[in-house]
Amino acid sequence: MSEIKNISVIGAGQMGHQIAMLCALGGYETVIQDLQDEALAKAKEKLEAIMARWVQKGKISEEEAAKAFHRLRFTASLEEAAAGADLIIEAVVEKIEIKRDVFSKLDKLASPHAIFATNSSTIVNSLLADVTDRPDKFINMHFFFPPLVMDCVEVVKSQKTSEETSQAAMDVCRRINRTAFLLHKEVSGFVANRILGALQKEAVYLYEQGIADFKDIDSICRKALGHPIGPFELMDLSGIDVGYFVMEQRYKETGNPEDKPYSCLEEKMKKGELGRKTGKGWYDYEGQGVK
Ligand SMILES: NC(=O)c1ccc[n+]([C@@H]2O[C@H](COP(=O)([O-])OP(=O)(O)OC[C@H]3O[C@@H](n4cnc5c(N)ncnc54)[C@H](O)[C@@H]3O)[C@@H](O)[C@H]2O)c1
Repeated sequence: MSEIKNISVIGAGQMGHQIAMLCALGGYETVIQDLQDEALAKAKEKLEAIMARWVQKGKISEEEAAKAFHRLRFTASLEEAAAGADLIIEAVVEKIEIKRDVFSKLDKLASPHAIFATNSSTIVNSLLADVTDRPDKFINMHFFFPPLVMDCVEVVKSQKTSEETSQAAMDVCRRINRTAFLLHKEVSGFVANRILGALQKEAVYLYEQGIADFKDIDSICRKALGHPIGPFELMDLSGIDVGYFVMEQRYKETGNPEDKPYSCLEEKMKKGELGRKTGKGWYDYEGQGVK
């Protein structure tokens, strides 16, 4: 397998723009693609602000930041993103039909040697790889939010993923300074999100039963369990829609009523209260500016 030099990231949302920056900082020629020009402009603006802060704090030099930006290209064209890529990391919205559509197009546009990775929070790669002719070159690379801060990637093999592909994905993680863990079998949600999901399920149960206010549940988790952030605060941080889509997908796969999205999340979805990104979720962020 040829060495990975060029990486493309599809989707410039909360995750994609930071994954692309990690790749550019790691020395890869990187392309970030999104359907929406607005998402690309926002991504660029956010990354410039983060890198300016890193330079100010002495985390990287001004020259290193400039070089990384030089290696990073923004585009709305999928053709441009696919051309020349050795590794394509998909980070579009958590909807299986959309991901399958993206990969089916990419399969025709990308070079046959290119590895495809999905950053999905829950969907195993074999549910996407069957729209392509490269199931051996397909893998999960699950980054955590926010990728520029969180030092963990779950790399998940399917039964068809080749050893070369998983080694290439692990090598990329090393080069971009992220600790990667190889999961040898597919399981919906992988490790961290399954454990987190169990915690959130219990937190929502206690809230919906009227046993305690969500703010108190968050405080108990922080004070008694030493968690750095409560389960409801975390839902706001990562996006209530993201958690909702994850549950919706899991329910589609298992048919287990226990996996159905919680009614309190459904209500928030209807109201468009998706957490920090919309200024309101479980908590109100209007006064603090949307982060
Ligand atoms: N937010 C998290 O905490 C988190 C953590 C780990 C993994 N993930 C996963 O990462 C993926 C992206 O999540 P996010 O939070 O960045 O979502 P997001 O909604 O912030 O961003 C998704 C982006 O994808 C773009 N998009 C949609 N369809 C597209 C298409 N066909 N082609 C190109 N771009 C397209 C949208 O314009 C948007 O900018 C999801 O699969 C999610 O499960 C999210």
